[in-house]
Amino acid sequence: MVEAIRKRASVRRYANEPVAEEDLQAILEAALSAPTANNVRPWHIVVVTDEDKRKRLAQVHQWASFCAASPVVLAFCADATRQPHWWVEDTCAALENALIQAAELGLGTCWIGIRAGEGDGGPGPEREDFVREVLSIPGHVRVLALVSLGHPEGEPTPKPAGPMDAIHRETW
Ligand SMILES: Cc1cc2nc3c(=O)[nH]c(=O)nc-3n(C[C@H](O)[C@H](O)[C@H](O)COP(=O)(O)O)c2cc1C
Repeated sequence: MVEAIRKRASVRRYANEPVAEEDLQAILEAALSAPTANNVRPWHIVVVTDEDKRKRLAQVHQWASFCAASPVVLAFCADATRQPHWWVEDTCAALENALIQAAELGLGTCWIGIRAGEGDGGPGPEREDFVREVLSIPGHVRVLALVSLGHPEGEPTPKPAGPMDAIHRETW
């Protein structure tokens, strides 16, 4: 898994090859094994393979276009009524587990943020509502992000860890 953390890189070009069900299952189980505040486990994950839906999700903003050509898109959500304080942290932890498990299986992923202020600082709530509408997600469920998933076309190039001056020992 440590190797998988190092080799994970955002993948935005996918081969035309489906993701095996057992790999998908392993990725989803890794997500649902994440730490979660007070053990509330507020997560919901929508697995999308339908081409029309992926094409629509690809329109959520200008940095999501590759969803149209990734065999799977995962929508990482949480029931915020069950966990109003920590649903973001809980869902990020689940999502990151999924990325690492996918990398370990030789699959490629890309985190696609859709919340307020991300990317161009554009309207977040509209993006969340857009994903809710496409996937019939109930109104009380928050959508954190989408993740594209598939076999990478070409070899992903991981970035080196850093910046190392982000590390402060004992004091800042
Ligand atoms: C919160 C968050 C939102 C992101 N949103 C997008 C996105 O909308 N589209 C995209 O192509 N990449 C997105 N990324 C991926 C980042 O661009 C990528 O992680 C970063 O450039 C570092 O590259 P690496 O993942 O290959 O290490 C996002 C990553 C995070 C953590």
